[in-house]
Amino acid sequence: MQNNLIYLDNNSTTPLDPRVLESMMPYLTTTFGNASSNHIAGVMANRAVNSAREKVANLINSDPHEIIFTSGATEAINLAIKGIVEQNQDKGNHIVTVSTEHPAVLDTSKYLESKDVEITYLPVDKFGLVDLAEVEKAIRKDTILVSVMLVNNETGVIQPIKEIAELAHQKGAFFMTDATQAVGKMKVSVNEMGIDIMAFSGHKFYGPKGVGGLYLRSRRPYKVKLESLIHGGGHERGVRSGTLNVPGIVGLGVAAEISMKEMEADQERIGDLRDQLEKTFLGMPDTFLNGHPKKRLYNVSNICFKGADADAIIAGLENIAVSNGSACSSIKVEPSHVLTAMGLSESEAYSSLRLSLGRFTNYSNIDISKTKIIKEIHTIKNFSSFLE
Ligand SMILES: Cc1ncc(COP(=O)(O)O)c(C=O)c1O
Repeated sequence: MQNNLIYLDNNSTTPLDPRVLESMMPYLTTTFGNASSNHIAGVMANRAVNSAREKVANLINSDPHEIIFTSGATEAINLAIKGIVEQNQDKGNHIVTVSTEHPAVLDTSKYLESKDVEITYLPVDKFGLVDLAEVEKAIRKDTILVSVMLVNNETGVIQPIKEIAELAHQKGAFFMTDATQAVGKMKVSVNEMGIDIMAFSGHKFYGPKGVGGLYLRSRRPYKVKLESLIHGGGHERGVRSGTLNVPGIVGLGVAAEISMKEMEADQERIGDLRDQLEKTFLGMPDTFLNGHPKKRLYNVSNICFKGADADAIIAGLENIAVSNGSACSSIKVEPSHVLTAMGLSESEAYSSLRLSLGRFTNYSNIDISKTKIIKEIHTIKNFSSFLE
C-alpha cells in the first residue's frame, strides 16, 4: 500500500483499526483452539466467541443468542432470504424489496424468481427514498418478507425502515434490513426499529474482512425460523454450520465495542469534513448531489460532475481512492442501478463520484483531495472541449 494514499472509499471497505488487529493476534497465534472442542484450548476460544457475541449484541440492542456469525453480509443475506422462502412455503411466495438494494439482495431475488418466487421491486424517488404508500400497496396476504436496506451504499440515503417494518407486520410479513452500511456507524436498535432479520459486515466498520453476521429475532410474534443453507456440524444454532472464524469474530466484537464508544464523536468529526468537501464541489458549475441532502449518513457524498467521466477522474487521481459506484459491482461496465433508479441519465450516472470518509480521514486528506479532484475535472473538461 502506498504510504501517501488518501483513502476516501470507506463504504467499499474500511482499514482495520489497529486496536482490532491487536485483539485478534492471540487468536491467530497462541490461542488457536476450535471453539467447539471441549478441552481447555476450545473453552478459551469459545469464551472469546461468547464475549464477541455480547459486544455485537450490545451494538444493535439484541440478545446475544439472536446473532449468527457468517463470512459477511452477502452470506447473511443469502441465508436469510433463501432460508425464509424455504421455511414459509405454506404461507406464501411473495417478497417485496427495492430497486436500489445491493446486488447481494437483488441477485438473490433474481435467483429466487427463477425458482418461481414472486418479487416486487419498489421504485424510489429522485432522492433515492421509497414511498410508504407504495410499500403498503405492494404488501399482500401472501407476502412473506419485506426487505429494505437501512443505508444505501452508494448515496448514504437512509430509508424509513421503522415505518416500513410496521407496514410489513400489519400484514403478517417478516421485516428484513441489509444494514451493512449502517451498523457501527449510526445507532441501530433492532427492537426500536422493528427489525426481525438484519445483515451486517465487519469490514465496513474497521473490523476484519470475511466476518459478519445475521440477526434473527427470537421473540414472538416475529420469531424467525430459517431453513439452513449450510449443513454440517450444527454450529450457530444449526443455521450456519462450519468451524467458527475465531480471530475474525473476536475482531468483529472489538470493532463493535469501539464503534459504540466512539460513534458520536466520529459522526461529528467525519460529518464536518464531509460537509466541507461537499460544499466546495457543489459550488462548482454543473454539479449536483445524488441523494437526499438530510436523510443521509454523515460520511458519504455522491456528486455528479456533469461532463467529466468518473472513471477518467479516478484514473487521473493516482494516490486518492474514490469510487464511481459500488465496488462489489464495479466489474460490470454499466451505469449505477441506484443512480439510474433515482432518475439520472446514463451519462450523469457515469459522471458521478462517491466519496466516503471514515475514522482515519483527516483535514489534510480533504484539503489535498479538493484541489486534486478539481484540477482533474478541469483537465478532463478542457480535453473534451478540445475534441469537440
Ligand atoms: C449495502 C451492502 N450490502 C451488502 C454488502 C456485502 O457485504 P460483504 O462484503 O460483507 O459480503 C455490501 C458491501 O459492499 C454493502 O454495501
